[in-house]
Amino acid sequence: MARDDRANFGSKLGVILASAGSAVGLGNIWRFPFETGNNGGAAFILIYLVCVLLLGIPIMIAEFSIGRHSRANTAGAYQRLAPGTQWRWVGRMGVLTGFLILSYYSVVAGWTLEYIGEAAGNGFAGKTAEEFIDSFNSFVGHPFRPILWLVLFLLATHYVIVKGVEKGIEKSAKIMMPVLFLLLLVLTACSISLPGAGAGIEFLLKPDFSKVDSTVLLNATGQAFFSLSLGMGCLCTYASYFRDDTNLPRTAFNVAAIDTLVAILAGFIIFPAAFSVGIQPDAGPSLLFITLPNVFQQAFGSLPWLAVLLSLLFYVLLALASLTSTISMHEVVTAYLHEEFNLPRSKAARLVTSGCILLGIFCSLSLGVGKEYTLFGLTLFDIFDFLTAKIMLPLGGLFIALFTGWYLDKQLFRSEVTNNGTLKFAFYKTLVFVLRYIAPIGIAAIFINELGLLKG
Ligand code: PFF
Repeated sequence: MARDDRANFGSKLGVILASAGSAVGLGNIWRFPFETGNNGGAAFILIYLVCVLLLGIPIMIAEFSIGRHSRANTAGAYQRLAPGTQWRWVGRMGVLTGFLILSYYSVVAGWTLEYIGEAAGNGFAGKTAEEFIDSFNSFVGHPFRPILWLVLFLLATHYVIVKGVEKGIEKSAKIMMPVLFLLLLVLTACSISLPGAGAGIEFLLKPDFSKVDSTVLLNATGQAFFSLSLGMGCLCTYASYFRDDTNLPRTAFNVAAIDTLVAILAGFIIFPAAFSVGIQPDAGPSLLFITLPNVFQQAFGSLPWLAVLLSLLFYVLLALASLTSTISMHEVVTAYLHEEFNLPRSKAARLVTSGCILLGIFCSLSLGVGKEYTLFGLTLFDIFDFLTAKIMLPLGGLFIALFTGWYLDKQLFRSEVTNNGTLKFAFYKTLVFVLRYIAPIGIAAIFINELGLLKG
């Protein structure tokens, strides 16, 4: 496709909102709290923040530069910048990662629709903590209901994708993101004023470094990549629609700041609430879905209309945040099929949607009727999460850092980062140093340590 024929985001705000829309999602509101709970609280959060600053922002600037310069899907981008080399596999691995994440992510995104229905029908009323846990487990294990919602969610994503970049992605992000922020702030205020919320706040603010090991480091790195949509060419694909005057470092900084703020706010919604009603912080992937309804019920039970309103708002928020993220993952794969195989966009999108529905069904069933089919004790759903978030994304990040730090022409990289010298970027040298040494060595060391090779 000729460079000039490609679509573009129409405005600077659109660029930031669409990228932040990709970054902000279940990763912040569902995954960040349960990873924080599983990895000891405040110490994990501090390591996570270091990962965002040291790895996340530099690699995001690298992905933006690769995408905008090549004006191609992520696999095509490496083809253009490094023709005839093996670097194209980095792009292809990204497309595969996107496809896998979209498949299991849509399962959880589908759960939010069930909970919207529950909230709207006042279905949480009068339930005890145990009943919330039971009803979550029986819903997730149901052979049809979660699949129905999964399909519906992927069809909604499909609808936005076929509408195209500016009308679909940008317009939806412009409406959804501000609503999301407002709702988060309201819920944070509610949660921290619950009785007994103090213990949850302490859990978020008092670090205990004695629990930190290489697994915690890998989990924090994986979470940073997952949450910032990095390591699979998602922001590279979005950057291929950026305008020539988009300030890449500033956009990366803004997106990382918004994303981190939302994750921290989600922590301040979930943990004070969980401690207040006596739910363990390490409840895992069910944490969000058993904590929140419980809280709405226990905290606002005497004002049923408020309980209904707040719970409804929360799950609508979660569904919207998930949608802006599924759109971005879908776009990675759709753009790849559309541009590399010359398929019409709508046909490419149909292939992606049907493939994800199929894989998603297996992931969903693996939590219910297929529970006993496990590998190393992990269900298919867990395998997808582990493989993508903890292996493929950090590995993708490692290669992206190596590519921009060592292979890519320095003049080309500098002119992307500074918009042909028209912008000042005081940290350019630091950026290159991080991409050359800190990020590759850091990620490799975490992998090697985790594999036990350094443990003597
Ligand atoms: N960043 C998204 C979230 O936090 O929910 C998930 C995600 C989107 C991961 C896009 C990877 C990606 F390429």
